[in-house]
Amino acid sequence: MCRSERIRCAVFAALCGAGLAQAAGAPDYRLGRAATAQEIAGWDIDVRPDGAGLPPGSGSVADGEKVYEAHCSACHGTFGDSNEYIALAGGVGSLKTDAPVRTVGSKLNAATTLFDYINRAMPFPHSKSLTPGEVYAVTAYVLNLNDIVPADFVADRASLPAVKMPNRDGYEPFPGLSKVDGKPDTHNRACMHDCEKSVAVTGSLPPNFVAGMYGSLDDNFRGLATMNEQAPPAGALPATTAAGPAAPALIQKYGCVACHSADRKIVGPAFRDVAAKFKGHADAVATLTRAVRGGSTGVWGSVPMPPQAGPTDAELAGIIEWILAGAPDK
Ligand code: HEC
Ligand code: HEC
Repeated sequence: MCRSERIRCAVFAALCGAGLAQAAGAPDYRLGRAATAQEIAGWDIDVRPDGAGLPPGSGSVADGEKVYEAHCSACHGTFGDSNEYIALAGGVGSLKTDAPVRTVGSKLNAATTLFDYINRAMPFPHSKSLTPGEVYAVTAYVLNLNDIVPADFVADRASLPAVKMPNRDGYEPFPGLSKVDGKPDTHNRACMHDCEKSVAVTGSLPPNFVAGMYGSLDDNFRGLATMNEQAPPAGALPATTAAGPAAPALIQKYGCVACHSADRKIVGPAFRDVAAKFKGHADAVATLTRAVRGGSTGVWGSVPMPPQAGPTDAELAGIIEWILAGAPDK
């Protein structure tokens, strides 16, 4: 972080320098206006290892656990040690072994960098939706999951820069962009023995998030066909999505249709009413997954929905994506 920070400053200084030099002799085109201090403050969110840039506020490990469960665990695992998705905990002390495990706990050299990353990028894809207090809290919680701070730790402007990360001294200076002497700043050698035999993908996103994010696969295929100026032959579009058979077939198969229909209330709500209610709701997928899996009562009336164990996780993700898309007929 330190290093890239410096590169960014260097590049920025060079650009600014050029801009200023030009402005001095250039005619005034009366275009645009200077950014206000408030606008600049909105962009100026970087946090340095010494804590410069940290906003006012604070958050405890206990509060962070709640934020984490609501906004992070689906992708990063209940205890941050998810093998399937991107782990945030574990691997401390493993970096120099044959099986290094790189997590924010094992690799970062400053706890403030963890705050900075979460504050600017998470929770995916709704970055910047957390308050500073929530970011402090969830940062404290992730540090606690890594056994770096105790359970009663409270993160704030003073405490976070003082945290000693396990890899604090593990970073090496690297000249990088600022000093390349006309040569590339990276190198690689062809492997001649004991080479890796296969490449394994070690992290991914839960399919329900991916499905929701890029829309229906069928629609994507159609877009490509248009780009190739070739309409897909009739019937060539798959009746399945990444999640398996299409949702309309699945709700038959698992008996949801006994209580639900797309456009009218039977025992349970019409799926289109569910879609309307959850339009723009950030946690729609997680909320509905919980309701269908665990059963639900009192949300739409007094009749309960029993827990639905039938669909696999991937199938349920597909069904919920379809419901949220307004339960289209196809
Ligand atoms: C929809 C899935 C999703 C959710 C929800 C999510 N993340 Fe992430 N997270 C990701 C992905 C994907 C990456 C990797 C991004 C990249 O490398 O560009 C990531 C990376 C991270 C990293 C950096 C990991 C590393 O090893 O460098 C941290 C820290 C993190 N997330 C914290 C959080 C926190 C805290 C929350 C909840 C407030 C959260 N994430 C919610 C998907 C998610
Ligand atoms: C025995 C009847 C019954 C069956 C079978 C049933 N549901 Fe429901 N469902 C309901 C009722 C009743 C509600 C409203 C519950 C409430 O008020 O909280 C509901 C609510 C829902 C909701 C909205 C939840 C919310 O929080 O707003 C969704 C989504 C849903 N069902 C999907 C399904 C799916 C998918 C299946 C099949 C795997 C299914 N249901 C099977 C009766 C049923």
